[in-house]
Amino acid sequence: MSIVFSGVRPTGQMHLGNYLGAFKNWVVNQEMAESYYCIVDLHALAEEVDPKVLKERTILTAVTLLSIGLDPEKCTLFVQSTVDSHVKMAWLLSCIGSFGELSRMTQFKDKSQTNMLKKGEVSVKVALFTYPILMAADILAYGADKVPVGDDQKQHLELTRDIAVRFNGSYGDILTVPDALIPPKGSRIMDLLNPTVKMSKSAGSDAGVIYILDEPKVIEKKIKSAVTDSLSSVNYDFVNQPGVSNLLEIFSAITDEDPKIIASQYQNYGSLKKDLAEVLIDRLSDIRQSALELNKNLDEIYKILEIGKAKAYDHSSPIVKSVEDAMGLI
Ligand code: AMP
Ligand code: TRP
Repeated sequence: MSIVFSGVRPTGQMHLGNYLGAFKNWVVNQEMAESYYCIVDLHALAEEVDPKVLKERTILTAVTLLSIGLDPEKCTLFVQSTVDSHVKMAWLLSCIGSFGELSRMTQFKDKSQTNMLKKGEVSVKVALFTYPILMAADILAYGADKVPVGDDQKQHLELTRDIAVRFNGSYGDILTVPDALIPPKGSRIMDLLNPTVKMSKSAGSDAGVIYILDEPKVIEKKIKSAVTDSLSSVNYDFVNQPGVSNLLEIFSAITDEDPKIIASQYQNYGSLKKDLAEVLIDRLSDIRQSALELNKNLDEIYKILEIGKAKAYDHSSPIVKSVEDAMGLI
């Protein structure tokens, strides 16, 4: 049976990009693989965050994932910092990864540049640089062969594979070399107001981001205000019509229909937006209801995470042990 691992940072409310790029695939995979889904709070620390807010977001992330359909009977849901395999493995792998390859990570280049412009060089944290090593540790400590993620994680997955191959070359065939599982549609959902940047929890304005737990009225309003263009014809063409194409991409990822066929069914942006809002509300309102219910019983959430922690530890610690042993630790 294949082993699936993936993670999400508890850095804000989960949005439609997270859902279509990653979580939808998580739900599918729990049915057919031994699946580990991790709320990566240590990764969240790489950016400025208030401790109280981090705790709240960690629980909100668990609630959202359970509402989407993760079933603790079918998968292991847990918090990264509660299982020490991750930090241990990260140190061991930092002795394999090189400064040069980490310097080439585009996410590091983008984020460090923004921080440097804001606050100067000293404010770029070491953790922002070593972030991909911790991510490789997450995946490799579980022997995962499949990692369902959005398109923006492709480069980090390549690095993980390189590190695994290099480790095996030096110490023997111990680590599983994982493959990224990137969905054919919805792997890169763009901001509704600025379709040249991806939809993100840290967007400047909430108006371009559909949160999974948004109320129906809010979803309708955001879709209505989505940026289009003045060409007045519906085509799936990201180069010339990025706004409309993003709406078609979302439509297609939700309904599993071909975006070009969807495009051919509409003569104007208004009716496309109206129908898209309807399918989105239809999909997201059950999730929202379920989150409202789960929120009433947070003890249950803590229990699920506690069980997840034990299962994650049992699975990962023998793998970390064999890595330590191979590297000469007694
Ligand atoms: P993050 O919120 O950055 O921790 O991302 C969690 C998962 O959602 C990762 O697999 C990302 O690749 C995916 N993801 C984040 N933003 C988007 C987006 N705009 N479109 C598609 N997938 C995304
Ligand atoms: N870096 C991922 C992101 O920003 C989150 C993540 C951390 C992850 N560890 C992981 C994803 C392991 C997949 C597997 O979205």
